[in-house]
Amino acid sequence: MSGAASDMETSQSSLESSEQVITPWEVSGSEEAGIDYDKLVNQWGCQRITPDLVAKLEAVTATRAHTLIRRGIFFAHRDLDVILDSYQRGEKFFLYTGRGPSSGSLHLGHLIPFLITKYLQDAFDVPLVVQMTDDEKIYMKGLGVDEARTLCHENAKDIIAVGFDVKKTFIFSDLDYLGGDFYRNIVRMGQLVNLNQAQSTFGFAGETKLGMVGFPPVQACPSFSSSFPHIKSWHSARDGFKPDAASKKTNDKGEKSASGVRCLIPCAIDQDPYFRMTRECAPRMGYHKPALIEASFFPALQGAKGKMSASDETSAIFLTDTPKQIKDKINKYAFSGGQQTVEEHRRLGANIDIDVSYQWLKFFLDDDDELARIGEEYARGRMLTGEIKAKLIDVLTDLVVSFQRRRAMVTDDMVYAYMAVRNM
Ligand code: TYM
Ligand code: TRP
Repeated sequence: MSGAASDMETSQSSLESSEQVITPWEVSGSEEAGIDYDKLVNQWGCQRITPDLVAKLEAVTATRAHTLIRRGIFFAHRDLDVILDSYQRGEKFFLYTGRGPSSGSLHLGHLIPFLITKYLQDAFDVPLVVQMTDDEKIYMKGLGVDEARTLCHENAKDIIAVGFDVKKTFIFSDLDYLGGDFYRNIVRMGQLVNLNQAQSTFGFAGETKLGMVGFPPVQACPSFSSSFPHIKSWHSARDGFKPDAASKKTNDKGEKSASGVRCLIPCAIDQDPYFRMTRECAPRMGYHKPALIEASFFPALQGAKGKMSASDETSAIFLTDTPKQIKDKINKYAFSGGQQTVEEHRRLGANIDIDVSYQWLKFFLDDDDELARIGEEYARGRMLTGEIKAKLIDVLTDLVVSFQRRRAMVTDDMVYAYMAVRNM
């Protein structure tokens, strides 16, 4: 459990530490091998996903856990055990994830949370809401409003191409959807957090855009089922759910009994600050704290110190890249853990912990035996950098080309169908 210290207090030290900086907008590690995730888990107060928890997930869903979970890429969680227990008791939950449309296309890193979300939607047969934070990207990237709306529409097509079931998936744009019950929750939360707290959680400074300072409750409130009044099954008479939880009695900590449908949020660990704040506020608003399942970062081509970022073209493979671009970027930029000369490489082998090609194969090569064999051969110097890069190019070309085939079939009308405000 998160213990006595509040979720928001435990966050402060990460921003004060000089070596490693992680916010929803900036990721930079101090080590060659990348981000120190143990440090992050300790500072932020999330929990490691243990082999026992993976076993429990497999038992509850009666399916094998996704490779991204089995290989520890989704490595941290908050209250995933609580979600599994309540699901086992017959209580359904919903999934919530999102995307800030800052570029015309998603890159491979963005795909990670959506792949796991798709697996979870199928394994649990639960509804999903996907927030497009076009407003956030206007403040953070200086996009124009119309430009952000166009990117949102294009990015929604990418998300649809992942294969979500339209009958169970609601995608919404903040610029279009904000209002009503959702906005009432935003205002409730806006009353509970002050600027000092927001500064220590998000690193806001004097030059931060005013709209951005007010934004965090917008990303927080889709965690609450009452923000979606049109999803009728979440507000059944049986639950006796009232959107206005204000009337409920509070305990001596100012907390109310929780109502609404529980929520599980897949994301990368960079989004954790938003949901620490959400979890801090939820009991005082009369809602369940959302649960989280959190991924480590898909590393940049240049190495694990940074995350793959859409703002740096050469750090990323985009889902729109051609086979030639994929090949050229990997051959030119993928950081190698191999040695300087072939002789040395044969003698010393590669350091697979810092080798980007090997790290990327861990995300996207499905075959466990083949991955183990490649790791062994390369670490012992029997496989050369050029060979592991060729393998990676094959795997990613297949992935991206088949994605593009599905993406080409997504029409504007399909986007409107997923984004229609409707019952599910
Ligand atoms: P955005 O668009 O920056 O990223 C979309 C999702 O991708 C994850 N992500 C990564 N995962 C692995 N490796 C990477 N290199 C990498 N880069 C990004 C992000 O963690 C995110 O899950 N504010 C959010 C949008 C949002 C959201 C949410 C995300 C709104 N509500 C709820 C997750 C859950 C954003 O700008 O994400
Ligand atoms: N790390 C390299 C590799 O495994 C070793 C190497 C350095 C090399 N220079 C080279 C290999 C030139 C082939 C050609 O490939």
